[in-house]
Amino acid sequence: MPNYDYDEALDALENIRKFIPFTPKTAIVTGSGLGDIAAVIEEGITLNAKDIPNWPGSTAPSHAGKIIAGKIHGRPVILLQGRVHCYEGYSMKAVTFPVRVVRMMGAQEYIATNASGAINTSYSPGEVIALKDHINLMGGNPLSGPNDDRWNERFPDMSRAYDPEMLEFLAGLGLRQGVYAAMNGPSFETPAEIRMLAIMGADLVGMSTVPEVITANAMGMRVAGLSCAANMAAGIDPEKTLSGQEVIEVMKKFSRRLSEIIIALIDKLNQE
Ligand code: HPA
Repeated sequence: MPNYDYDEALDALENIRKFIPFTPKTAIVTGSGLGDIAAVIEEGITLNAKDIPNWPGSTAPSHAGKIIAGKIHGRPVILLQGRVHCYEGYSMKAVTFPVRVVRMMGAQEYIATNASGAINTSYSPGEVIALKDHINLMGGNPLSGPNDDRWNERFPDMSRAYDPEMLEFLAGLGLRQGVYAAMNGPSFETPAEIRMLAIMGADLVGMSTVPEVITANAMGMRVAGLSCAANMAAGIDPEKTLSGQEVIEVMKKFSRRLSEIIIALIDKLNQE
């Protein structure tokens, strides 16, 4: 089992550099059923995550486990298709290892996408929401343990975990903003938990992204979070039950919309 430490990240980095000779500016991570953005990557080089030393492998359905480097409208990007999750049994250090490596490659922005349940009853399934903040209820933090100063300081600030400029741009595209509560999963929440999260101020709930966002911020990256509300959260419609299969089906339907938003965001970054 890897430790997911600095030296192991260096090892992964050296390997990736053999195949990807350029420096990506933006890292994009795709969640459940949201991998379609890969189709717009120009001059793409595809690596299998399982061929990179120490890279945590993916077991979740619909998470492809590929690393694709190339360009979107001329901007060098690296796409991480298929994240790993704590609910698969991976540690927070494993889950955030790809963030460490893409930052060491030189990426400056981190665009995370995910599927979520809508707690805010004004949202509807398929709507893409820009994350403006999060609540970490996963029961751990990816930075806990001895600190490696080569990576980040001990107590990183999280006051602006989601880049205000990118948020403003996304608002201009018409996206609404929401607070994302991260639960460990893999069971969906109970209706009582959803009522608790609503009282806490959460608009969306999911099982990913927050460990990555903490790590990306700690390493000085600008972060954008795009969450596609796949379903109304548990108990909001008392007649309904939730299923992972339904989440993936809804995500596939709205994947194109998400790709358009990412491309617009890349164009904005290109103009800075
Ligand atoms: N809860 C948690 N994670 C999710 C949900 C949900 O309702 N929908 C998609 N991912």
